[in-house]
Amino acid sequence: MITVKLKTDRENYDNTVSSAAEILKNGGTVAIPTETVYGLAASACDKEAIKKVFDAKGRPQDNPLIVHISNMEMLERVACDIPDAAIRCAEKFWPGPLTMILKRTDYTDSSVSAGLDTVAVRMPDHKTALDIIEKANLPLAAPSANTSGSPSPTTAFHVEADLDGKTDAIVYDRECAVGVESTVISFCCNPPRILRPGAVTRGQLKEIIPDITIDKSVLSKPDDNEKVASPGIKYKHYAPKTESYLVEGDSKAFTEFVNKQRNSIAVCFSEESDSISTHKLIYGRESDELTLAHEVFAVLRKVDELGADKVYIHAPSKKGVGLAVYNRLIRAAAFKVIKL
Ligand code: TXA
Ligand code: MG
Repeated sequence: MITVKLKTDRENYDNTVSSAAEILKNGGTVAIPTETVYGLAASACDKEAIKKVFDAKGRPQDNPLIVHISNMEMLERVACDIPDAAIRCAEKFWPGPLTMILKRTDYTDSSVSAGLDTVAVRMPDHKTALDIIEKANLPLAAPSANTSGSPSPTTAFHVEADLDGKTDAIVYDRECAVGVESTVISFCCNPPRILRPGAVTRGQLKEIIPDITIDKSVLSKPDDNEKVASPGIKYKHYAPKTESYLVEGDSKAFTEFVNKQRNSIAVCFSEESDSISTHKLIYGRESDELTLAHEVFAVLRKVDELGADKVYIHAPSKKGVGLAVYNRLIRAAAFKVIKL
């Protein structure tokens, strides 16, 4: 398959939106930018198109997809029995990096939800994505546009590295502003529960849902036989090929530890970088979790290019958006944590 490259500079923008919408309406797949990560989109109502998404990513069939919408009328098409708290969350956080699990209608194809009676819905805060959804007038199922298991793509070039020749088109837009995937919360349990942390934090959600809980899989490894609330949780995720460890401890301890290692890479904060004498990649400022979220996946992709035996990643704090970064990194490290 030849993958069409669609540009979003001013000259090409309208044509790109129309072409992407046309491909999607005709049952094709298009990688689109969002504010979190790039997504591989297909019509959420088209079984064949959804199958193409699963195939292109090599995604297990039992891992459901998020449906992307551009207005509240589309929400009514795809979900029903929507609780008041969910409407209030939509009013406060949409468009934005929040996905809500709700009871599904029969509007979307059941393969989108991997046979569950729920649907994950989000309205992305990205003009190009919203314009494409609006033009196609279709809710779009879109998982992150990476090969299943590898770090999520925050640039169109990451998408190209994984999916060139496997999707009908890629929209080349700017790098994603947030850098980690949306917060996923389920309204199909009482009280509602955070299944995946993201840029909308627990603190922000508590203002609307004071008794909101966090699923235990966010920070710990699910048992092999356990029935998980979000099927995606049980798969290996975001992992570089290099053997990865998450290292907890202060900058002094981390620096001393990595400086003693051989043929390894340190993924560190900019504040401590000068004290590190081994190969290193900086993923942002310790004092600003947003910078860590923005770079974490790009850095995980770079790790493999350096060809070391092992990578030691300095764990961020679990505060605010830091929790989302920690959650991705502990999976990238396959739950191998070194406590100094
Ligand atoms: O920011 C994002 O959410 C990005 C962009 C493209 O929008 N998308 C994304 O999709 O991260 P994906 O497929 O990589 O992650 C979707 C997560 C998975 O963990 C999946 O198991 C969960 O959402 N999920 C989807 N539908 C669900 C459902 N009905 N019930 C429980 N979990 C669900
Ligand atoms: Mg993903």
